[in-house]
Amino acid sequence: MKKVLNIAHRGFSGIYPENTMLAFRKAVEIQCDGVETDVQLTKDCIPVLCHDETLDRTTTGKGFIKDYTYKELSKLDAGIKRDRKFKSCRIPTLDEFLDFAKDKNILINIELKNSIIQYPSLEEIVIDRIYKYKMENNCILSSFNHYSMVRCKKIDNRIKTGLLYSEILYRPEKYAEYVGADALHPDFSTLYHDNIIKGTTEKGIPINVYTVNEEKDMISMINLGVNGIITNYHDKLKRILSILHLP
Ligand code: G3P
Ligand code: MG
Repeated sequence: MKKVLNIAHRGFSGIYPENTMLAFRKAVEIQCDGVETDVQLTKDCIPVLCHDETLDRTTTGKGFIKDYTYKELSKLDAGIKRDRKFKSCRIPTLDEFLDFAKDKNILINIELKNSIIQYPSLEEIVIDRIYKYKMENNCILSSFNHYSMVRCKKIDNRIKTGLLYSEILYRPEKYAEYVGADALHPDFSTLYHDNIIKGTTEKGIPINVYTVNEEKDMISMINLGVNGIITNYHDKLKRILSILHLP
């Protein structure tokens, strides 16, 4: 069995408030190999990290991120809704995250959240920031919007891209080649179908599966030979990998 990348989904979001600097710090403290995060754009075009297009679920704000300036968003609490003890966590900017990650020797997976809202120039803005922090060799962009992934490659062919999807695609390795992507990022459950992973393995296209939180599924994905596992509980995955001598 080969080494599997242990990627913390939205930081260590199983325990800490998702997509906050606290969750990113804790992910690195407990030795993940990578961190996944989600990027949206504010009204004044600042890339910020939040899973939802709206503020209501994870912060003390209401409405769409795109309707607020960063200055307005910076006053919101992004921790208290998870638990009072996480009061005063803020919505991070992509810059804060990259500045933190740049010397940590980790892979970063930045998911462009542009399937619901077509943020203008999101791809250019994110790629510009990746170079600013010299993270181009340790970064993979992903999106459910595959047009956006093609756009990233047109902007800069060296930037790595991964295609997010949740359907049982026929010959996903052919689709990845067609789109010009470097990796596939499927919902893990699609890999239980037939022998879907065979073609991608033969072609050497890495598969990073999301979001694998149960031990039995982690073990199945390791046995299938995926490249990386995106999980809310990278601590649990770390234990499993060390038992299997795949640290
Ligand atoms: O990038 C993997 C995963 O985060 C995709 O789904 O909805 O959790 O952003 P979601
Ligand atoms: Mg995501």
